[in-house]
Amino acid sequence: MSKLFEDRVFWITGAFGALGAATARRLALAGANVIASSRNVDTQLFADWPHVVPLSVDVADDRSVRSAFAQIEERFGRLDGLVTSTNVAAFGDFLDLTDDDWQRVIDAKLLGSVRPIRAALPRFIAQGHGAIVAISGRGGIAPPPNHFPGSSVNAALDLLVQGLGRRYGPLGVRVNAVAPGPIRSPRFDSMATTQAATEPTRLTALDGPGTPEDVAAAVAYLLSDDARFVTGTRLYVDGGGPPYA
Ligand SMILES: NC(=O)c1ccc[n+]([C@@H]2O[C@H](COP(=O)([O-])OP(=O)(O)OC[C@H]3O[C@@H](n4cnc5c(N)ncnc54)[C@H](OP(=O)(O)O)[C@@H]3O)[C@@H](O)[C@H]2O)c1
Repeated sequence: MSKLFEDRVFWITGAFGALGAATARRLALAGANVIASSRNVDTQLFADWPHVVPLSVDVADDRSVRSAFAQIEERFGRLDGLVTSTNVAAFGDFLDLTDDDWQRVIDAKLLGSVRPIRAALPRFIAQGHGAIVAISGRGGIAPPPNHFPGSSVNAALDLLVQGLGRRYGPLGVRVNAVAPGPIRSPRFDSMATTQAATEPTRLTALDGPGTPEDVAAAVAYLLSDDARFVTGTRLYVDGGGPPYA
């Protein structure tokens, strides 16, 4: 029996982070070839995954992104989907965060998603199919007090996804977001250290935090043909958000 993503090629940015790595493994297990990119490439992380190809890319640099896309084209001659999962840490009180902190988040996550999408989209349009999933975050509708830059960018990404979904749906391209809540990961830990343990945004209706694999499952669904009628939307993977008191 053929696997769900047999012969398909997916590009994941931020693939050496917790959520990106889980997604790369999930897609590879389902038969895909996966281009796993980040600035720093740990050759050991996917050493046992022959269908995961590491590629060093800086999504804050448009030339680096375009060069990466050209390398993917040359090596695989096809691309079926793109997952953007980059960010940097910029946690703290609003009054303590600088322009530079905000700019780094915008560059790594908002423009860091725009650039790979802009590089890959013409191919998707030309072939009449393609699926894009941006990892945004629950902060986009409920910003934790120490996470305003990331939360603002999440809201912007969700809006972008909605616009792109409507704009390019008629051309066969689906564009969605997965918005995680608290997910067990180094990023969650570093955010939690600047946030009181009782902060309601850390609590979830379902037993949490979630796992990177929970996010990977949602991404795989949105990339798959099961989601053929789903575009321009965001899927929360957040344990339902804070429970009612
Ligand atoms: N973990 C959570 O609880 C949670 C909750 C909600 C939303 N999210 C979102 O989910 C996404 C992934 O989170 P995560 O926990 O996997 O984060 P992570 O472990 O910090 O991974 C982030 C990845 O982004 C890469 N990156 C950062 N800047 C880059 C750049 N300029 N060019 C290329 N790669 C860059 C990092 O690698 P290099 O530094 O080597 O480039 C790393 O691979 C992020 O957008 C995050 O905001 C996470």
